[in-house]
Amino acid sequence: MKIPMSSPDLTDAERQAVIDVINTPILSMGAQVPRFEQAFCDLTGAKHALAVNSGTAGLHLCVRAAGIGPGDLVITTPFSFVASTNALLFENAIPVFVDVDSKTGNIDPEQVADAARNIEKYLPRLGANGHSSLKALLPVDVFGQPAEMDAINAVAREHGLTVIEDSCEALGATYKSRPAGVLGDYGIFAFYPNKQITTGEGGVVITSDDKAADFMRALRNQGRAPGDTWLSHTYLGYNYRLDEMSAAMGAEQMKRLDDLLSKREQVAGWYAERLAEIPGVEIPYIAPSTTRMSWFVYVIRLDSKIDRAAFAKRLEARGIPVRPYFVPIHTQPYMIERFGWREGDFPVTEDLGQRGLAVPFSGVMSEEQVEYVCQAIRAELI
Ligand SMILES: Cc1ncc(COP(=O)(O)O)c(C=O)c1O
Repeated sequence: MKIPMSSPDLTDAERQAVIDVINTPILSMGAQVPRFEQAFCDLTGAKHALAVNSGTAGLHLCVRAAGIGPGDLVITTPFSFVASTNALLFENAIPVFVDVDSKTGNIDPEQVADAARNIEKYLPRLGANGHSSLKALLPVDVFGQPAEMDAINAVAREHGLTVIEDSCEALGATYKSRPAGVLGDYGIFAFYPNKQITTGEGGVVITSDDKAADFMRALRNQGRAPGDTWLSHTYLGYNYRLDEMSAAMGAEQMKRLDDLLSKREQVAGWYAERLAEIPGVEIPYIAPSTTRMSWFVYVIRLDSKIDRAAFAKRLEARGIPVRPYFVPIHTQPYMIERFGWREGDFPVTEDLGQRGLAVPFSGVMSEEQVEYVCQAIRAELI
């Protein structure tokens, strides 16, 4: 049997919505984008939603709107997909990494509080100087589980910081019954085809700040402010617009969000039942504050005595793709070159990075496929 790593969950409704768009001449800047955006305001209660052409673009707009610029410091996590940190580097801001909670993999709020209180301790190591000031916190809702946002927001309030919540992996999750994405000042979702909903490529930013929303709408559209003509540009902007085909697909997917998340939850449940008892395998931990997990990937942790690379090869040979998850950001070559990070700088992140393995996962996986994967894991470990 050959199992795909992930698969989108699309129906005729999505296909028809795309066909309906391409039967019109309006392929960009039409009615589909606002329709798609409205679904995010309805889901989260945010005042504004802006569709963009990737989660990374969305993060970048938030960084600009928050006024984060060269030399500014932002406390964030090294246990994430690189885009959460890259959005800071685009503006020459400085990521101040702190380590994560070993159970959830989310940024450790106590370390966030400590870093905010003693920020000058971090400056020499980061090549920053006394002119740098702490501007924001950028937590990530890792693997679809919201970060410990109450504690993070308390730090932000104490120090007057903006909070950018990277919810790219957590659409539809809830934290203490509140939706992921609205827990800080800005939230971002992403829709690559392995995500909970997909538009092919795409993202959405949400905020309740009117001025920031207007500014981000202008930046998304080549810096055109309200009143600018097609060839006049108030700001240095980008083309971060989402096209109409993608928005139409996304709007249909959003109608099915609850069902899509329930199917993913069922697949995660099948995995948990089968993997919980296998020695050497740890299944994902869900914190009590996570009132709804939005399963993005299914990442198991292997006992440190297991040779993960060799194990992965044996699974691949049985038609089961797996991925180390995440490769910590501070261990990426360009980050080492820029900041000189060394092994041991963030021990919990490194441990999770060395032991984590994402197994095939999607809402369209059958129980038979999950059974096949789990039998192979058992056979190759025991
Ligand atoms: C935590 C996190 N942030 C940001 C992104 C970036 O999203 P995109 O790939 O749409 O640019 C992703 C997507 O994989 C992600 O997982």
